[in-house]
Amino acid sequence: MTVRLPLLPERQLELDVDGHKVSVREGATLLDACRALAIDVPTLCHAPNLTPVNACRICVVELEGARTLVPACSRKAESGMVVKTDSERVRLSRKLVMELLASSVDLSTAPEALAYQARYGADPARFGLAAAPTAAGEREHRHAGEHVEPEPSRAATVAQPVKVDNELFVRDYGKCILCYKCVEACGSDAQNTFAIAVAGRGFDARIATELDVPLPSSACVFCGNCIGVCPTGALMFKSEHDMRAAGTWDETRQNQTDTICAYCGVGCVVTLHTQDGRIVKASSPHDSSVTDGHLCIKGRFGWGFV
Ligand code: SF4
Ligand code: SF4
Ligand code: FES
Repeated sequence: MTVRLPLLPERQLELDVDGHKVSVREGATLLDACRALAIDVPTLCHAPNLTPVNACRICVVELEGARTLVPACSRKAESGMVVKTDSERVRLSRKLVMELLASSVDLSTAPEALAYQARYGADPARFGLAAAPTAAGEREHRHAGEHVEPEPSRAATVAQPVKVDNELFVRDYGKCILCYKCVEACGSDAQNTFAIAVAGRGFDARIATELDVPLPSSACVFCGNCIGVCPTGALMFKSEHDMRAAGTWDETRQNQTDTICAYCGVGCVVTLHTQDGRIVKASSPHDSSVTDGHLCIKGRFGWGFV
């Protein structure tokens, strides 16, 4: 016999953020509390449709009584907490995160990251001139745990040639901040395909297919959900990549139109991005109750017939 317990009322928690009292439901994060107060806490590895992984640490805040800064995106709110989101210690930490990222990764197609860099006055040049890009495949062949000695006068980078091995999307891991979002979207947070994972250790850690095979030879089903969550443009529609290379990509001339995918009866919301009357890529809103921001290969890439 199943015993049904009456539903308990949702418990509210009271805390103090930057001197303001805020009340959030039990289970909310410090980021939720900050957003309830319209406090802009930067995030890179967080997404509303993915499990927090605490990889980037740009969202750290100061919590009274805690020895270290805590990641707002995953730290659960508790009653009585006193939080500071813009103290000198917080700003210094965020600045250092951006300096380390910007000295090692090409952020040119990551507008949010560039805005954070400017907001915190991060100077990536402190680490010296960037080291030369590695040759194609070189990073993939480094063994886990064996690090190449850094050249002390140069800032180590993840620069390397773009991987173009299919007609749908490219992978430019010289732009990868290792936020894990693509791995989560490919895995149990959305697609459950597990075509990609993090390989290697430390600075040599990188996103890889099984045995580093090209994407078409891997388990990838080309849903493009990894592109949908990538915050830096490391994963990009081939259409966008080619237009950028030709100098014709211009977001100021682009429109977005929500429609319903016509391929099956699920009814996924598809946002068509158009430039000069032509579709240039497709996405789905994160807050769609049907897709949660994710699509299949047909919704993501099957617009060529339009
Ligand atoms: S396209 Fe889909 S299946 Fe392929 S790597 Fe990306 S998320 Fe995984
Ligand atoms: S490819 Fe993009 S989504 Fe994947 S880890 Fe790198 S930056 Fe994050
Ligand atoms: S956004 Fe919180 S750790 Fe990355």
